[in-house]
Amino acid sequence: MKPFPFRAGELYCEGVPVREIAARVGTPAYLYSCGRIRERYGQFVRALGGNNNLICYAVKANDNLALLRLLAGEGAGFDIVSGGELYRVLKAGGRASRVVFSGVGKTAEEIDYALKAGILLFNCESESELRLLSERAVKKKIRARVALRVNPQVNAKTHPYIATGLREHKFGIPIRDAEKLFVSVHGWPGLELAGLSCHIGSQISDLAAFQEALQKILLLAGQLSRAGFPVRYLDAGGGLAVPYRPGDTTPTIAAYGKAIRWVLNGHDLQLIVEPGRSVVADAGILLTRVIHTKSTGRKQFVIVDAAMNDLIRPALYDGYHEIRHVQSRRRPVEKCDVVGPVCETGDFIARNRDLPAAEPGDLLAIFMAGAYGFVLSSNYNARPRAVEVLVDGEQWRVGRRREKMSDLIRGEGLD
Ligand code: LLP
Repeated sequence: MKPFPFRAGELYCEGVPVREIAARVGTPAYLYSCGRIRERYGQFVRALGGNNNLICYAVKANDNLALLRLLAGEGAGFDIVSGGELYRVLKAGGRASRVVFSGVGKTAEEIDYALKAGILLFNCESESELRLLSERAVKKKIRARVALRVNPQVNAKTHPYIATGLREHKFGIPIRDAEKLFVSVHGWPGLELAGLSCHIGSQISDLAAFQEALQKILLLAGQLSRAGFPVRYLDAGGGLAVPYRPGDTTPTIAAYGKAIRWVLNGHDLQLIVEPGRSVVADAGILLTRVIHTKSTGRKQFVIVDAAMNDLIRPALYDGYHEIRHVQSRRRPVEKCDVVGPVCETGDFIARNRDLPAAEPGDLLAIFMAGAYGFVLSSNYNARPRAVEVLVDGEQWRVGRRREKMSDLIRGEGLD
């Protein structure tokens, strides 16, 4: 489906004109298409095929409660990286038995919480973490299921801030140390070593990189099994790219599934994947209104009411997001910088972008904002965070209300 079609020159989200939503809830506003999220999740289900797999949506990509509930309803598991994400998943009705816990710095409190909830798998990334997990599980007289997160040393060719698969990155256990560690940890009390995992980075278009990583992990699984330590779970992480720029070509979910299944063919393992961006990115837009326009002689600026505190991807990763007028404009195209009101030169949504001339009051839609959008937002410059709206067919509802001034000082005291 096309979650954001133009009809008679006007942008819709599914069956609702986005202008109507903006008129009711104001801007900036995140809008998510429920139909599109279901569709993308369904594509993963079909692409992986069979029953022996689990799709653990990476909560960090978008942790809106209503969205998590929607995915839980579709049968998704969840990949979490903090106690807070587990809290959100459970509140949304997700089942702990379908949760995997990733991350290099799990604290004792987070581990206790996840043990109590009864999650499926801890993806562990260091001996120190394994020691802590073993200790906490013994205290509770239970055994924690563990997968070693292995760093397969594969170059994922993505932005350096979101590549994770090389030795210089903090993630995972270097693959050549993994067998030794697996074997030495095997007898530790409180642990059930049950799997291997990897995640080589995010926004990856090269299917061969996923295959290379998996091949290396499978080789390791084979060595372990020959040494008497069979592996049950294989967690391939997330990372599938989405097309941000018009004309970008990225692999389909079906092609990704096929590539992975091809490598796994004949291996009797339960496959886990942790897609985040590829499930939700194109299901979301950020709606913003033009406040002012100004020209410095050198540059034309369009100043909008969404800023880097609402969407930090352009500032942080040089991320590209397509921008379009919500109502098609027959105006001359201008090269402009679309910027927010935050007092930083780095506060831009787009630079040197060709757009039909904008005027104060115009509504603009910033596309591909469903992943790593609202979740990375902040209150910088004491700006209340945006409202989040879920659209399903002709229906829409607020999933999270816009923050009020009073939210800005919640928890603060004057003495
Ligand atoms: N699993 C693990 C262990 C991860 O670290 C991540 C993402 C995922 C799964 C999901 O990856 P995805 O399918 O979404 O690529 N804020 C950045 C992206 C950071 C990704 C961090 N880890 C951005 O906006 O590009």
